Amino acid sequence: MLIRGKATLNGQIEVSSSKNAILPILAASILTDSEIELAKVPKINDVTIIGTLLEQLGKQISKQDKKMVLSGKVISHHPPYDLVRQIRASVLVMGPLLARLGKVRVALPGGCAIGSRPIDLHLKGFHALGAEINLRSGDLIAKATNGLRGAHVYLDYPSVGATENVMMAAAMADGLSYIENAALEPEIVDLANFINRMGGKISGAGTNVIKVEGVKEFKGVKYVPIPDRIEAGTYMVAVAATKGEARINNVIPEHLKAVTAKLIESGAEVIENRNHVEVRRVSKIKPVYIKTLPYPGFPTDMQAQFMAYLSRAQGSSIISESVFENRFMHVQELCRMGADIKSEGKIAIIKGAKKLTGAQVKASDLRAGAALVIAALMAQGNTILLESQHVDRGYEDIAAKLNAMGAQIDSEP
Ligand code: UD1
Repeated sequence: MLIRGKATLNGQIEVSSSKNAILPILAASILTDSEIELAKVPKINDVTIIGTLLEQLGKQISKQDKKMVLSGKVISHHPPYDLVRQIRASVLVMGPLLARLGKVRVALPGGCAIGSRPIDLHLKGFHALGAEINLRSGDLIAKATNGLRGAHVYLDYPSVGATENVMMAAAMADGLSYIENAALEPEIVDLANFINRMGGKISGAGTNVIKVEGVKEFKGVKYVPIPDRIEAGTYMVAVAATKGEARINNVIPEHLKAVTAKLIESGAEVIENRNHVEVRRVSKIKPVYIKTLPYPGFPTDMQAQFMAYLSRAQGSSIISESVFENRFMHVQELCRMGADIKSEGKIAIIKGAKKLTGAQVKASDLRAGAALVIAALMAQGNTILLESQHVDRGYEDIAAKLNAMGAQIDSEP
């Protein structure tokens, strides 16, 4: 990807449906053989990979532009390793497969290189619901020979994936389950809404105790996932970073409170409307302190983009990453563009630099890639972003969307 520097983003941009909502929703389609029709499905690589994985399990999928129709019964409990290793969210098929087939075999997951990212909490949840867990030749095998039964599942940490996986497994278990210390992310609420529309009985999603009454059968449904709050946040930061002025459409402002608060603190104006926000920067970039936290705290998925933005602040900012270990891979690359950032463990100190300069840099993961795009837009000169396929995993048509606001990005230079 080639990005020309010194851009100013003006105009409007449309946010796509949420990657992190649609991935578990696609996994939840395993719970029924009836037809699921999803609209506004983002054309991103992660969706393609999960779609292929579901087809390998026996699902039939047809796609027409942004509509995706899934039907049929899963027949395999063992998704192929070459797909599982490409995307961590593939672990989300475990819960529904266990519920439907009473067994699942999955290789330890892949995905973004951001820390070790274990799945012990998912497994603990399955075990509480009555599954037996074993590790054989690098594969995790979960079995519930006599079916799953409702239980109290306490998560030691409010993991997004574990909450979703346990919720999907419990949705078909015999009796009542409670997920305690559940994650509160909007994508969890969206998954619960989707399952309920299929005939599920889930309440309390969006709070830290989710009650799930198991049901025997689910029906088909038409559904539109929520807008992508991280994509929206990324464009909000890009507009502020380039001192532009733009309207970001298809946004639920409520989902972006922490990001909006930090943008305002850093010198931007954010006007919230019912389903769009307007952003413009009204002063020089002011340094801020950010600590990433589970929702409704500041999202770890916005940490890298903010770091790029703050690298041009008038003073020193501190970012503390408390959700993932080792999520500062973008620091080195930002420094290659002239940023002055020191990181140690989970803390990064970002000293505002006079300027950034275009360079050849590499995207180590999805959000690191998005951060480098923002840095490149602010920089003087051209940037070549290597391994930009990471960005396409989660951003639909990023080059076209930003170019429509005045950027000059060539996806395939
Ligand atoms: C999801 C999002 C990802 C986001 C993250 C945190 C999807 C597809 N991905 O990832 O974009 O960055 O939430 O908001 O929705 N952990 C354990 N044991 C477990 C599970 C998690 O120790 O069994 C730890 C992880 O290593 C990490 C922390 O908990 O340090 C948060 O992980 P989690 O909330 O599970 O994130 P994901 O669901 O993987």
